[in-house]
Amino acid sequence: MSDGNLFPTPEHAVALYREDTQELYRQADRVRRRVFGDRVFVRGLLEFTNVCAANCHYCGIRRDNTAVHRYRMDEEGILDVIGRGIERGMKTFVLQGGEDPEWTTARLCRFLERVRLRFGNETAITLSCGLKSPADYRDLKHSGADRYLMRFETGDPVLHQRLRNGISLKRRLKGLHDLKDAGFEVGSGYMTGLPGETEDIRIRNALLCRELELDMVGIGPFIPHPQTPLGGSPQESLSHAVRAVALVRLLLPEANIPATTAAGSLQPDGREQMLKAGANVLMPNITPVDHKKDYLLYPGKICLDESGFECVGCLSLRVKTVDQALCFDRGDSPAFAGRTG
Ligand code: 5AD
Ligand code: SF4
Ligand code: FES
Repeated sequence: MSDGNLFPTPEHAVALYREDTQELYRQADRVRRRVFGDRVFVRGLLEFTNVCAANCHYCGIRRDNTAVHRYRMDEEGILDVIGRGIERGMKTFVLQGGEDPEWTTARLCRFLERVRLRFGNETAITLSCGLKSPADYRDLKHSGADRYLMRFETGDPVLHQRLRNGISLKRRLKGLHDLKDAGFEVGSGYMTGLPGETEDIRIRNALLCRELELDMVGIGPFIPHPQTPLGGSPQESLSHAVRAVALVRLLLPEANIPATTAAGSLQPDGREQMLKAGANVLMPNITPVDHKKDYLLYPGKICLDESGFECVGCLSLRVKTVDQALCFDRGDSPAFAGRTG
C-alpha cells in the first residue's frame, strides 16, 4: 500500500490480520502515528467501588465470590483523589466500579455536580459502572459526565449470554446505543482468549467495534481467576490481544485505544507491545493503595503497591522505549468530534 493511501479498507485490514502479523503491526503503528503523532494520552483510573450485583463468570469481583473484601469509596474520598490527580496535571479521570446498588444514578449525579463545582469544566470525567436505563444515561450526561466505557466483552451471542450469567449481547448493545443517544463519547471493547472463542469470533469482535463507530476501544487478554467458574480455563497467548489492538486501529483510525493493565499484567512489556501495535492511551491506576488489592478482576494485577502517581514516572520511561511521550491533554476522541461535528 502506498503512503498516499491513508487507511486500509476493512477487507485489507482483516487480510493482514489473518496473513501477516508483522505488516499488520507496521500499518497499525503508521496509522496511529499519523492520527496522534508521538503522544500517549494519560487517564487516571479510579476504582471507586468493588461491590457488584452482576455475576460475570470471568470476573474476580463477581457477586458470588464471597472471598472478596468489599469496599465502597465515598464522595469525599473520590474528590480527594481527583484533586491530587489534577495537581499532578491529569485532565481525564475514569471512575470505574461494579454495578453497586448503593451508588445509584441519583447519587452519581449529585456527585458529578460537585465535581463540576469544585474543578470546573476542564476535566473530562469518564464513567464505567455498567448497564443502566436510557433515562439514567441522560441524567448522568446532564450532570456533567463526558464519556462512558462499557465493553461488550465478546460479540458472540451464545458465548456472551453464557459468560455474562444470562444477560444477552442484544441488551448490552442496546446500552451502547442508549449511551450514544445520551450524547456520550462512548467506549467499548472486549477480552481475547475467553474459553470457546474462535479466530472467527475474534475477527467479528473487531468488526463490531467498527460497526458501533466507537470513540474508544479497550482490549485485554482474559486472565483466569481461580475463584470464578472459569478458574480452570487455560491462559491464552497475549498475542491475540495485541493483534486485536492492531486490527481495531486499522478499522477505527481515530479511536482512542488504551494499552491495558491486563496486557501489562500478563507480560512485563505487554503495554509496550500494544503501544507499538496501535494503542495511544495509558491509564495509571490512581485508586488508593488500601483498596487496589481488593479490585482483582484477574490475578497477577500489576502496580498494587504503587500509587498511580508513582506509575506516571514509570510510564513516562516506558513510553520512551517505544519512541512515544506521555501527553496530559484531555485527548478527546477525534472520532467523537467527527461523529458529532
Ligand atoms: N481477565 C481479564 N479481564 C477481565 N475483565 C473482567 N474479568 C477479567 C479477567 N478475568 C475485564 C472486563 C471488564 C473490564 C473492566 O475488565 O473486560 O469489562
Ligand atoms: Fe461486575 Fe463488571 Fe465484574 Fe461483571 S465484569 S461481575 S459487571 S465488575
Ligand atoms: Fe505502575 Fe510501572 S506502571 S509501577
